[in-house]
Amino acid sequence: MIVFNNVTKKYGENVGLIDATVHINRGDFVFLVGPSGAGKTTFIRLILKEIEPDKGRIILAGKDITHVGRREIPAIRQKVGMVFQDFRLLEKKTVYENVAFGMEVLHKRKREIRERVPYVLDLVGIKDKAKRYPDELSAGEQQRVGIARALVNKPRVLICDEPTGNLDPITAMEIMELLEQINVRGTTVLMVTHARDIVNKMNKRVVAIDHGRIVRDEEGSYGFHKKEDVEPGILFPERRLATVSDLAPELAALANEQKAAEADERMRTIYLDPDTAGSMVQDYAEPSTHSLTDDMVSTYLDGGEDIYE
Ligand SMILES: Nc1ncnc2c1ncn2[C@@H]1O[C@H](COP(=O)(O)OP(=O)(O)O)[C@@H](O)[C@H]1O
Ligand SMILES: [Mg+2]
Repeated sequence: MIVFNNVTKKYGENVGLIDATVHINRGDFVFLVGPSGAGKTTFIRLILKEIEPDKGRIILAGKDITHVGRREIPAIRQKVGMVFQDFRLLEKKTVYENVAFGMEVLHKRKREIRERVPYVLDLVGIKDKAKRYPDELSAGEQQRVGIARALVNKPRVLICDEPTGNLDPITAMEIMELLEQINVRGTTVLMVTHARDIVNKMNKRVVAIDHGRIVRDEEGSYGFHKKEDVEPGILFPERRLATVSDLAPELAALANEQKAAEADERMRTIYLDPDTAGSMVQDYAEPSTHSLTDDMVSTYLDGGEDIYE
């Protein structure tokens, strides 16, 4: 689903990522952990094509996105649903409108929006709050709206950046349960977090970054081993780092995976649908704007606007 192979990204003298190799498979649930400045945001921005790698190769949902033209960027971002620590809801829109907006901006048909939005609101457990405004909701409910919005266009992967950072521990665990359910239904989840107790409780795969390097990649807890300290074969028996020649079959498999995905598209649940649509759409309109202008749409479709910062 997401392949980073020997990816390096520097910002002048500053190191973003060095020689990072990570393979995230379809259906995985992965925590991305590491201290501030480690390279977590760099990793996400590379997936969203906000920045270009200096070296290495990046594949998203079977497509090599290492270097792509500007026109291809919107389609790539539509494969990704983003969930943020600070929710980023439009305050002057209702819950329903916040979620519908992500579809409107992509010119989805009204009927499709009317069917899809209630479905997603139900899925995240806030159907009864559809007519409320964000400031009438608890923080946990607001994050549910954020998750609904991220899912509304059926992304291939959900990327959550500290989604529980503004939540109390109990609400945070409720949100984690929701993310786990979404993952079980087939959506790949990549979650950046500092919440050690959450990582430990969830017992999922943990990819740790430090100073731009992947220093750990294994199931389990937040606790840290330095990869250099351990024989790779011992610490990562089934997940040794791939070499370039290893990648060829991987690429073929990914291509097949995409073909298969297209073939059974109609039968699959909404979450596995590969069809297009936007992920996170925010800040393209004044919060008070309730209808879309052509400018807003073209800004989005141009890929000219940063959707993640
Ligand atoms: N636009 C930028 N220009 C220069 N340095 C940057 C830029 N973005 C990130 N960095 C540097 O790259 C490193 C990794 O940053 P980042 O990916 O934001 O880490 P994290 O999200 O883990 O805190 C840091 O040293 C940071 O200062
Ligand atoms: Mg960051």
